[in-house]
Amino acid sequence: MPEKIKILLSEAEVDQRIHAIGEEISRDYAGKQVHLVCVLKGGAFFMCELAKRISIPVSLDFMSVSSYGGATSSSGIVRIVKDLDESIDGKDVIVVEDIVDSGRTLNYLLSLLKERKPASLRLCTLLDKPTRRVEAVQVDYTGFPIPDKFVVGYGLDFDQKYRNLPYIGVVEFE
Ligand code: IMP
Ligand code: MG
Repeated sequence: MPEKIKILLSEAEVDQRIHAIGEEISRDYAGKQVHLVCVLKGGAFFMCELAKRISIPVSLDFMSVSSYGGATSSSGIVRIVKDLDESIDGKDVIVVEDIVDSGRTLNYLLSLLKERKPASLRLCTLLDKPTRRVEAVQVDYTGFPIPDKFVVGYGLDFDQKYRNLPYIGVVEFE
């Protein structure tokens, strides 16, 4: 394997932060039900852990989009690979993503979901690389802002590998 992985955020740090976001969402939506929309595949690990930490009623759905581009960047041309199973009309939706990088994927996805008339629409991301932003995106819940490094783990991949790492690591290319 030509690349090395260096730990950026430990398993304990990530778990602790997800726990805190879960509590924050439970407070913000007290008395309501939240509908979590996971962006596959990267958002899956985060969404499962987050959902377990939310104490109000939760329903889940999954969506898969692909942005044409190389292994480490997105092009801005987004295609729906798998759409939601259920309507989001009138629901309090939180989109759960692994990372916001250029913002192109999320910008596209959020405007698409907004047209489907949810009662509310927010974005929750485990990681954010604010210095990489090309298109503005409003992020409502952020796990960690991180520097402009290519990271893997907790759902994030490099060439479909490393999603299963229980921590966030920086890929060091040789
Ligand atoms: P954006 O459209 O540029 O914001 O790209 C978002 C998507 O790019 C994420 O959902 C990831 O799939 C991928 N991505 C961006 N940065 C990284 C990274 O550091 N590691 C792994 N995937 C990344
Ligand atoms: Mg990805």
